[in-house]
Amino acid sequence: MIGRLNHVAIAVPDLAAASAQYADVLGATVGAPQDEPDHGVTVVFIELPNTKIELLYPLGDDSPIRGFLDKNPSGGIHHMCFEVEDIIAARDRLKAEGARVLGSGDPKIGAHGKPVLFLHPKDFNGTLIELEQI
Ligand code: CO
Repeated sequence: MIGRLNHVAIAVPDLAAASAQYADVLGATVGAPQDEPDHGVTVVFIELPNTKIELLYPLGDDSPIRGFLDKNPSGGIHHMCFEVEDIIAARDRLKAEGARVLGSGDPKIGAHGKPVLFLHPKDFNGTLIELEQI
């Protein structure tokens, strides 16, 4: 059911420093910061030949990643995103298998303008999983 790894998202305590490290030390193609107020994050997209990295930084007081950074002050992997062809079919299959879908269970429009859902990390070995319909 799941397809390509669309991105790995990393919460960072200093967006400028992390962007500079990926650009200058790792030699990656790093985009400009984009505010995503609907998701409470500022995102920097890093294009790799086979996938993307997203650097996440809190935007606003009730950002969903502020608590993550409180627990992981030096940053850390926040979630992985897998592509699916039909997000409703994927959701229904996962729910039938007992996996918990976060929020209302209805897809939201994600940072790339595509429908996304998140799956409970406790159901997937401690890893927050995002599904994105491509
Ligand atoms: Co994501």
